[in-house]
Amino acid sequence: MAKRKTNTLIVGLTWGDEAKGKIVDLLAADHDIVVRYNGGNNAGHTVAFDGATYKLHLVPSGLFRENVTCVIGGGVVVDPKVLLDEIARHEAKAPRLRRRLLVSSRAHTIWPWHTKLEALSEKHQGKGKIGTTLRGIGPAYADKANRVHAIRIGEFLRPDHLQKKVQRIVEARNEVFVKVFGEAGLDAAAVWREYAAYGEAIRPMIADTTAYLLRAVAEGRRILFEGAQGTLLDIDHGTYPYVTSSNASAAGAWPGAGVPARAIGDILGVVKAYTTRVGEGPFPTELRDDIGSQIREQGHEYGTTTGRPRRCGWLDTFAIRYAARLNGIDGIVITLLDVLGGLPELRICTGYTVDGKPLADFPDDPATLEQAKPVLESLEPWKEDISCARSYRDLPRATRAYVKRVEEVIGAPVRIISIGPSREQTIFRS
Ligand code: IMP
Repeated sequence: MAKRKTNTLIVGLTWGDEAKGKIVDLLAADHDIVVRYNGGNNAGHTVAFDGATYKLHLVPSGLFRENVTCVIGGGVVVDPKVLLDEIARHEAKAPRLRRRLLVSSRAHTIWPWHTKLEALSEKHQGKGKIGTTLRGIGPAYADKANRVHAIRIGEFLRPDHLQKKVQRIVEARNEVFVKVFGEAGLDAAAVWREYAAYGEAIRPMIADTTAYLLRAVAEGRRILFEGAQGTLLDIDHGTYPYVTSSNASAAGAWPGAGVPARAIGDILGVVKAYTTRVGEGPFPTELRDDIGSQIREQGHEYGTTTGRPRRCGWLDTFAIRYAARLNGIDGIVITLLDVLGGLPELRICTGYTVDGKPLADFPDDPATLEQAKPVLESLEPWKEDISCARSYRDLPRATRAYVKRVEEVIGAPVRIISIGPSREQTIFRS
């Protein structure tokens, strides 16, 4: 038998919103550290226990586990205001959170010019917009790549330097806001007053998290890597350009956390029992009919971050198989399986055709994906409410047949099944 691996990585296999937060919260109980490695507050991770629901955007979903250290890795972009609001909102339920939360000095930051630029740019794109979450994520990552006007969290430790830098950046950005967009500029002094205070509040949590994690790896402490968004939103391997601006696949974990790739361990790919997408971009299995609406209502498919209704469709195992292979997953987690109960019919997509010809591989360009027609396979629906099941055997025969078929077509074992938002509504399979 293979040696038990120490660390675990949780990654979404579709376009995000796979209920990864619940899975991270559960598995965090068996880990020492949870580290977010990509994205920012475009993410919306939901954790539910003791009858209450908590929505997280930046703080790793291990925060409610008292013995877990939460790390925001260098690959994350941090909006300081959102981070502090989130800590304040949850610290009553997350004991000693400020002492258990480390924010990488290497993480880049989101400022008012990022959100303002994104809002203007999406508006001016009109029909060609990406449909972003408008949280400034893309502009912040663009500045990181561009380097000249980027600010890392660690710079809050040098306020005099940062104040001058903010002044310089605002002057440069105002040229664009005023001259290109005909909008009002930002007030550098006001921005600095607000953000200097955020910097002071974050200062005790700033750390060289790469050094911290490398030590943890050497000491054999168990690390849980928490991916945000999903593989099909990965900037390099997703459905570009309708993607986010970070590596949302497992490939983002080693640069985003700052650990060697071989330290990752077990990789679990999370999928919902059906597929959803928010924002623009091709979605071959999308259901624009009553069944799509039924899934949306039964699954409460409205964005955690923006409240936008999510587009819903049949489980796209052709796309998921691609994502599963790209991430090199060891197992699958299926979430929201209970939502499929009571649907009049049940299908999964096992392939795509373009002009009647089957595709060998998941398309690498949006035009082909736009033309792709899903090859659908019908499976037996079930009527029962499965949300009270506590073991695999409790599930109706048709539900188990669905799970088995998903394993076959994706080519990996289903290790965890989630049948409701709370911790107890989970079935672990050995
Ligand atoms: P951005 O990440 O805000 O730049 O948005 C780019 C695309 O990714 C848009 O289609 C968003 O709806 C989508 N997106 C970003 N974050 C998430 C997420 O956490 N869940 C689902 N979709 C997301």
